[in-house]
Amino acid sequence: MWEKNPILLLILATGAILVGTLVTMVLPFAWVNTEADRIQSVTPYTALQQEGRDIYIREGCNNCHTQTVRPLVAEVIRYGDYSKSGEFVYDRPFLWGSKRTGPDLARIGGKYPDEWHYKHMASPRSMVPRTNMPAYGWLSKNSLDPQMIERKMNVLGFPYTSEEIKALEGKNEMDAMVAYLQKLGTGIPWRQATTTTIVGDLKNPYTRIGHAAMKPWEEIYTANCAACHGGHMEGDIGPELDVADMDDSDLFEIIYNGVPDDGMPPFSSLGADKVWKLVNFLKDFYTAEEQK
Ligand code: HEC
Ligand code: HEC
Repeated sequence: MWEKNPILLLILATGAILVGTLVTMVLPFAWVNTEADRIQSVTPYTALQQEGRDIYIREGCNNCHTQTVRPLVAEVIRYGDYSKSGEFVYDRPFLWGSKRTGPDLARIGGKYPDEWHYKHMASPRSMVPRTNMPAYGWLSKNSLDPQMIERKMNVLGFPYTSEEIKALEGKNEMDAMVAYLQKLGTGIPWRQATTTTIVGDLKNPYTRIGHAAMKPWEEIYTANCAACHGGHMEGDIGPELDVADMDDSDLFEIIYNGVPDDGMPPFSSLGADKVWKLVNFLKDFYTAEEQK
């Protein structure tokens, strides 16, 4: 009936589309990015971090990395607290993305020490042998242009101090990138608030089964720990692992929960069994060394 009357159909169709637009676009704009949405602890990027962000966009890092942790259990366990809209008020444009060739980076800040990032960016395969992330070592050869950065900060209306702009002298693009990565996701103090509750008592399920039998567990160490603690626990980015005097359960907790903001990431994602294997492997390593 209506479809026989083109004018009426046009008016009704336009009306229907307008209602849809209103509900899905205009209303959310009124809800998010309002004052109520702001998080006090979220601060603007410094000049150095903002420049790192521009290089991140220029290099297309967002083609392989997302920057948003969805509120799903599996994501929160892997990456940390899910993203809040108020955390992105200074992101112009935002870099949430949808393509995860590499892991999400929304909570990367504070996960590793600066030194880890410098090494990883220069040669990802030296840290994670099978990664397909390209190397970006040449970023260290490009120095920053403080005047250009000052102009960009002006356009965005971001606050910066003249000291901040001056401090950019002598810095290179790699410094900017690492500063930016270390800022990501740190607007809320989620890391300090996270201690994974370990189900069950902290009793070592393995008795020391002997050096030879524990040898296969070395692979867990090599894949997850060697990049920071060295191939033979001698220490590198992280300290030497002389754990002979450490309690089994304390050692388990350090590995499982990490040391928040001190550069030791949590390894709860390995599961309790593998972490216990590591505990036994580490303790056995030093006992075996002493007996030599
Ligand atoms: C071809 C896809 C690809 C591109 C492009 C890429 N990455 Fe990656 N990235 C990966 C993969 C895969 C991993 C996981 C293995 C690893 O750590 O190398 C990764 C890991 C990382 C990690 C460590 C994450 C963690 O939680 O351990 C950081 C930081 C990172 N990338 C930053 C960058 C930056 C910055 C750029 C742009 C300059 C970039 N990536 C470009 C694929 C990519
Ligand atoms: C990104 C680098 C990094 C990785 C990967 C890493 N660690 Fe650590 N680890 C550190 C740093 C840094 C510290 C020192 C933390 C501090 O200052 O309290 C540390 C501390 C420790 C400690 C405490 C040492 C002590 O004497 O107090 C243990 C035990 C430990 N790590 C075990 C491991 C194990 C096992 C793995 C692999 C599953 C691992 N770490 C992976 C960086 C790392």
